[in-house]
Amino acid sequence: MTVSIVLLAGGQGSRMNSDLPKVLHQVAGAPLLAHALRAAAAVDPAQTVLVVGHGGEAVTDAALALDPDLSVVTQHEQLGTGHAVAQARPVLAGEGGDVVVLYGDAPFVSGETLQALTKARAGADIVVLGFEAAVPTGYGRLILDADGMLAAIVEERDASEAQRAVTLCNSGILSADAAVLFDLIDAVGTGNAKGEYYLTDIIAIARNRGLTIGVVTCAEVETLGVNSRTDLAAAEAAFQTRARAAAMADGVTLTAPETVFFAHDTVIGRETTVAPFVTFGPGVTVESGAEIRSFCHLEGCHVSQGAQIGPYARLRPDAEVGPQARIGNFVEVKAATIATGAKVNHLSYIGDATVGEGANIGAGTITCNYDGVFKHQTVIGEGAFVGSNSALVAPVEVGPGGYVASGSVITQDVPGGDLAIARTRQVNKPGLGTRLRAKLMALKSKGQG
Ligand code: UD1
Ligand code: CA
Repeated sequence: MTVSIVLLAGGQGSRMNSDLPKVLHQVAGAPLLAHALRAAAAVDPAQTVLVVGHGGEAVTDAALALDPDLSVVTQHEQLGTGHAVAQARPVLAGEGGDVVVLYGDAPFVSGETLQALTKARAGADIVVLGFEAAVPTGYGRLILDADGMLAAIVEERDASEAQRAVTLCNSGILSADAAVLFDLIDAVGTGNAKGEYYLTDIIAIARNRGLTIGVVTCAEVETLGVNSRTDLAAAEAAFQTRARAAAMADGVTLTAPETVFFAHDTVIGRETTVAPFVTFGPGVTVESGAEIRSFCHLEGCHVSQGAQIGPYARLRPDAEVGPQARIGNFVEVKAATIATGAKVNHLSYIGDATVGEGANIGAGTITCNYDGVFKHQTVIGEGAFVGSNSALVAPVEVGPGGYVASGSVITQDVPGGDLAIARTRQVNKPGLGTRLRAKLMALKSKGQG
């Protein structure tokens, strides 16, 4: 059975109070839209149709960047969820098979749940995904008949007192045969409190036509919808709770899990320890046995086995930290490879550089990679030693085993094995310190100075 996805992202999301379309707001470093597409991937859809409306261009660009095979249709007027799904009809006509409707503002449904939903179609013409809500306010209610079969979905605004007491709610997600679904939507009217074409109205219509309707339920956390920034923060919190539990189940030690923040795609190997207060931005992989100490921020980087990061380190995109390497406190690394066992332990900026195996970069070393227009490379060879407080003005190379004396400003290549000193020569004045102090003390006793 082929399955197509219709993903609704046309609504305005006015309660977000934002210039950004709602589905482009981020959770765990990825837009809601990306989370929805990832959920959809679990049913291996033959086609995914994204319905856009408000901010359609920005949403379309973001969506096609995530998946160039998407079909995008525009809902020019937001006339309701039923009307939104109907916009996908031209794309899916002749496609056959099933349609799963997903809401872009409720993208945290699990792959297992979607698979259960599509499987349940074997026993019913339409399957609705419901959940038991702790607080059902705002959701459509699933109204069951005397036999426990779904008779209708009633929106909160249209519900009677008795119906509002129902806690079994509509997630918005449903699955049906494509032809049946579009046929039912044709029969939906606007005689409701909002004057919209509700997708949910197809249930009562289907019942009248003698179709069978099934309900699959999932945990409420999977149906969490984002209608406001408060909801967005709640979605982030729920995501982090799951990600922390998953990391620990995978053999990662989190000393204080509630202070560690993961991105949607963070990958961390077994026996890695992550100390309190660490943030992972998108695109981070950490191999097993690494140690990430407190107050680090990592993004777009790779940390190899047994490496030690932080405390207080920042790894920016394309930082590649080799096995057993050390990146210490107040060190920033960007677009740089730090080879096996190399050490950058204190107060450094290493950008657009390669640091060879076992090299030692002294405290306060800076790669001066930017001339105001272009970026340039610094190459530091295997086993090189860069003394503290040196500036390496790129493009420049320190050869294998080379030495740079502390406080140097290196503007020319240092051949391997050489020692470069690039600072003003020191002059000592014999006895001048003592004489100077005596003179100053004399001034002080006269009340001068
Ligand atoms: C909807 C359901 C409700 C369910 C709830 C779950 C209907 C009528 N109601 O209510 O039963 O409990 O979701 O979260 O379906 N959209 C469009 N075009 C439109 C209108 C909406 O694309 O014209 C999109 C929105 O962007 C959103 C989704 O459809 O992604 C749901 O719309 P929304 O207005 O948020 O519906 P709810 O009131 O939350
Ligand atoms: Ca909603």
